[in-house]
Formats: sequence, C-alpha cells, structure tokens
Amino acid sequence: MRLDKYLAEMGVGTRSQVKQYIRKCCVTVNGELVRQSDAQIAPETDEICYNGQTVGYAAFEYYMLNKPAGVISASEDKKQETVIDLIDTRLRKDLFPVGRLDKDTEGLLLITNDGALTHQLLSPKKHVSKRYFARIDGKVTEREVKVFREGVAIDEDFTALPAELDILISDDISEIEVVIYEGKFHQIKRMFEAVGMEVIYLKRLSMGNLLLDGHLGLGEYRPLTEEELAGLRAHE
Ligand code: URA
Repeated sequence: MRLDKYLAEMGVGTRSQVKQYIRKCCVTVNGELVRQSDAQIAPETDEICYNGQTVGYAAFEYYMLNKPAGVISASEDKKQETVIDLIDTRLRKDLFPVGRLDKDTEGLLLITNDGALTHQLLSPKKHVSKRYFARIDGKVTEREVKVFREGVAIDEDFTALPAELDILISDDISEIEVVIYEGKFHQIKRMFEAVGMEVIYLKRLSMGNLLLDGHLGLGEYRPLTEEELAGLRAHE
C-alpha cells in the first residue's frame, strides 16, 4: 500500500495533508525517514510513525455501541454529534453505522468499515431479525399481538412483514418487546401508529445473533469479540 494512502486511511489527515507531512520529514517507516508519498509499505508488518507516534493499522474495525438518545446515526455532520464521534479510540476514518437508529432511539448499533458484511446484514432479502424494547402510550393487548403477527398495514404502499410482539406490561403505559425482520424508516413507530398508539421510548436489544452487551452504559462501546463477528458472518 502507498504510504500516503495508509496515513490518510488511518485518519492522520487528508491525502494532501499527509503528503505534506511526509515531505516535511514527519514520517518514518521502521525507524527510517521516508519522504516519498508513493513509497510502498506493508501495513501488517511495517511500523509507521508520524511525529514519533506509531500509527497502528486495522483493515477492518467492528464496534458494538450502546447508542444514547440525542446522537444521530451518521458518519459525519457539521452541527450534530454522530455515533462515529463517540468511537474515540477508532483507528480508521471510514467507519459508518450499520443501518440507522432514530435520534431518540437507544441501544445496539454496529459500527464498522466492512461494507460487504453491512450489505449482507441490511439486505432486504436476508430478513435479519432486530429485537427492540419499547414503552408505548396505550394499553397493548392480544389484539395488537395478532395484528403484528399477521403484518401491520402501515399505509397503502407498505404492509410490514409479520412481527413477533411480546407484552411485558399491559397498562396505560405498556412495555413490550418486538422482533422485526426488515428495517424501514421509523418502522416500529409507524407500526404502533398504525394501531393507534405512540412509542414513547425505544431501545434496540439485538441484531441477528448479536446481542447488546448489558455492561455497556449509554454512549459506551467495545470491539466485537471473534465469536460475535463469526456469528454475524453466519448471516452472509
Ligand atoms: N424503528 C423506529 O421507529 N425507530 C428506530 O430507531 C428503529 C426502528
């Protein structure tokens, strides 16, 4: 790989900035000053330093984030904090969230730069399951369980796939868990709206066989384990 590409991918700067750094003798490869941006390096074995600091390499990164409310599911935004801003130990600058949670939704969000895995997980053909916990303004009953099981008609153009609704508390404010197999915009909120109820709190608990780690507080994250990654790849 070219030295300037490596430094840019690892987030040291833009391609033109890192070219300047290299020209200004800020970069060493295995302890030797290198001044050519197109110098070829072996990312897995060479030690690259910028201003004396090692620039570590990761081809792919995978993080599980417990998304807090108030943060948007985007890679970058000029005004608002994004989920990527929360991953402050990231090495790469090309990370993105796998799918979107609404700004006010909490819970499991996978963050990676692995486009192929993302494509598989989000493909409408794969029907990867997503489990949510929700608090609902309204008394959720067996009637809604049946409607969800049969597929809620959201509007003329869209009927949701059958979904599993489990009632935890059925009261003026109900608590439920629901599993869906697609990921349309505001899907859970629209499903409840279609049965005359409002979602007042929403948290994602799982995506496929990846479960939110209960030790992660809101806004905290950790790398996926090998087992978790293998589990996600099993969806491919
Ligand atoms: N459904 C919603 O309505 N919002 C989310 O953030 C996720 C699923």
